[in-house]
Amino acid sequence: MMHLAFLLLITFTDGTFSKEVCSYQDVLDYLNLTADNSMFKTTRPVLDYKQPTVVKLDIILFAILAVIEKTQTFIPFVWGIMIWNNERISWDPAEFCGITQISVPQEMLWKPDLFIYEMVQKDHASQNPYMRVYHDGTVVAEEAMKVVSVCKMDVHKFPFDTQSCNISIGSAIHGLDEIRLLPSSNSTRITQFSQELVMSQGEWQFLHQTVTSHNFTLGKGTWETLTYTFTMKRRPLLHVTNFLLPVLFFLILDLASFFIADHRGEKLSFKVTVLLAISVLLLILNDILPSVSHKTPLIATYCIVIFALMLLSLLETILVTYLMEKDSASQEKLKLKDDREDKQETVKTKNCNTEDTKQTPCLCICTASDKSLELLPMTQKVDNSIQSEESNALLQILEELKELLNILNLHLGCRQEGGTSGHWAARINRAFFIFYVTVVSLFLCLIVFAWST
Ligand SMILES: *[C@@H]1O[C@H](CO)[C@@H](O)[C@H](O)[C@H]1NC(C)=O
Ligand SMILES: *[C@@H]1O[C@H](CO)[C@@H](O)[C@H](O)[C@H]1NC(C)=O
Repeated sequence: MMHLAFLLLITFTDGTFSKEVCSYQDVLDYLNLTADNSMFKTTRPVLDYKQPTVVKLDIILFAILAVIEKTQTFIPFVWGIMIWNNERISWDPAEFCGITQISVPQEMLWKPDLFIYEMVQKDHASQNPYMRVYHDGTVVAEEAMKVVSVCKMDVHKFPFDTQSCNISIGSAIHGLDEIRLLPSSNSTRITQFSQELVMSQGEWQFLHQTVTSHNFTLGKGTWETLTYTFTMKRRPLLHVTNFLLPVLFFLILDLASFFIADHRGEKLSFKVTVLLAISVLLLILNDILPSVSHKTPLIATYCIVIFALMLLSLLETILVTYLMEKDSASQEKLKLKDDREDKQETVKTKNCNTEDTKQTPCLCICTASDKSLELLPMTQKVDNSIQSEESNALLQILEELKELLNILNLHLGCRQEGGTSGHWAARINRAFFIFYVTVVSLFLCLIVFAWST
């Protein structure tokens, strides 16, 4: 209050009346800029129509909201800054207490009719209601918006891919002779801005942004467009831990299953289980992988080859199991025949030499069973001399024992020793294991190389 009184005192004692208190409205009144003055909004604000209006533009990335491969949609949240000159506006700041800028509602002034070529959905988000007007006629308008744009994506290297999406901006009706579009900042500066401001990137990591200018001719007119290219890299961690590694683990399990003994189809059922588990994972792939691609994505190759390899190993196991079944069947037939001969000729000693016993534990049991047969003649001698009922019972027990040993031999895999099919099975198994390990390591090396380049 004191201050104001003092000021008034000075102005009146000075004798001249100078206006010390100004408002923005004074500037508007001076310009005759009112809401219903159509002069400012109907035509392009140039005094000579031959002069183009130069619009300087910056697009800064705020957030990557979504990148949808299935629909080839890129949804960023961007901030656009437009600067142009309105030749009908100018005032001397000295006349208005140094006011150099005012803000006016966007509807009051002419605005360049810029639009985004790739935009497929209009954004109805709240618009910035004001724009800034400077005393030299410079007008600055800012707009933050969610852009739903189309973007051609290549998912060949999914999930280790890098995508580049464009946002092209041009005037809808004003050609090159009316509106010139220029970038305010160059690519490095704009990348720096975006990297500082980008808040949310989700699955993506923003790398850089470039701006290029194009002249595009259609019919008689030529339009100038600015193309902003946003380059971003996918963060692959989730897909690696959720998909690539589990598939690899199942492959390792399948490799490990070669060390399971080949009896009674255990290996076979194990391999089938692993193959089923992989099939479930393939269903997930269907969800995450877009179908729009001209080249087969590497991840599909990865899955198909691993699936095929595991299928091959399953087929090999089936073959080996078949060969061994065949072998054991022939062995069993042989044993049965032996048994019958034994029963007909009562006792028949086989030449079970001591050298044979060294070979394998299996053979030991075989020979052991044969040695038990050697006892039979002795018992017969006893039989001749004593002829008692006890000896008869003993003979019965020996017969039973022989039967038991035969069964035991069958179960312990003595059959592996005989039969050509059994030999073949073992040989095929070994050869296939070497082939399998070689192919798997070669393939993994190749796919890692393809992904990393
Ligand atoms: C201001 O604009 C109005 C129309 O909106 C017009 O009638 C008037 O003459 C203008 N005044 C000046 C000083 O240009
Ligand atoms: C577009 O045309 C204008 C005017 O002829 C020219 O100045 C500008 O360099 C051209 N831009 C490109 C990218 O060719």
